Amino acid sequence: MRLLTARLLDSREILPGQWLMRWEAPWLASTALPGQFVHVRMPEWAGMLLRRPYRLNTFDRIAGELTLHVRVAGRGSAWLTQLRPGESVEMLGPLGRGFEVDPRSRHLLLIAGGAGISGVRALADTAVAEGRQVTILFGAARASEVYPASLLPDEVEYLVATQDGSLGHHGDVTELVGTYEAWADQAFAAGPPGLLAALARIAAGRDARLGVARLGRKRGANPDPLGSPGARRKSWLQVALQQTMGCAVGACLGCVVTGVQGPQRVCREGPVFAAAEIDWEAAG
Ligand code: FES
Repeated sequence: MRLLTARLLDSREILPGQWLMRWEAPWLASTALPGQFVHVRMPEWAGMLLRRPYRLNTFDRIAGELTLHVRVAGRGSAWLTQLRPGESVEMLGPLGRGFEVDPRSRHLLLIAGGAGISGVRALADTAVAEGRQVTILFGAARASEVYPASLLPDEVEYLVATQDGSLGHHGDVTELVGTYEAWADQAFAAGPPGLLAALARIAAGRDARLGVARLGRKRGANPDPLGSPGARRKSWLQVALQQTMGCAVGACLGCVVTGVQGPQRVCREGPVFAAAEIDWEAAG
C-alpha cells in the first residue's frame, strides 16, 4: 500500500451517470489484485475531508494504467468525474483483500448487479489471461443500464437479465444462476446487498441440490479457519462488499459488517469475503 499521485488519461460516460476513468498509476497497476480498491483524496478546499473508496475496475501492469468505474452518487463522485485528462488525484492503495481463485478452477462464474460490475471486472481479465473460462451474469433494471459488452474481453460469455425484460432474460439475474451452478467451479459476485444475500442463499443450498457428498476429513488434516485464504478458495461463492468508509486501513471501524464470527472490517478483512462468513440476516 502506498500513497501515490495518479494522472487522468481519459474519462467517458459509458452509461447514464456512470464513468470509466483511465489513470496513469504504474505502481498501483503493477501491484493490484482483482477485488482490491483505492482510496481517492477529495478536494479539502471544497469541504470534502474524507477520501472515497473506488474499486479497481481493471489494471494493465505493462501499460502502468488502471481504470475506475465511477457512478455519480454524491459530491465526491460528481467532482471526480468532472476532472479533465492531465489532472491528478492522490490515491492510497491497493487496499483490502482480493478474490481467492483456486488454481484448479477452470470455470468461473461472475455475477454482478448494476455498477457493482466494477467489483468483478478485473477478475474477468486475469482469469481469461490464465486460460480459465469465464461467464458473466449481469443484472440491471432496464436495457439502458446494461454494461456494454464491448468493454469485456472477447473470450467471456456474457448474459444479461433486466427487470423490465427490455434486454436478455426478463427478471432477476439470480434466476440465471441455476443453469451454471454445476458448471462453475467457483462464483464471484458484486452488487447491491439484496443481490448478494440472495446469491448467498443459493450458494448455501448448492451442495444439496447437486448431491455433493460431504466426505470425512482426511486424518490429520486441519480445516482452513473461516476467513483464511484457504477457506475462501474452497468457498463456492465469494462476494465483494461495498461499504461507506472512513480510514480504509482498519483503524476507525466505520466500515464494519456483521460476520458469523463477529464484526468484520470491509476495508481490512474484506472487501472480498466467502459468502458463509457474513451474517446475511443481520447485514440485511
Ligand atoms: S474504513 Fe476505517 S476501519 Fe474500515
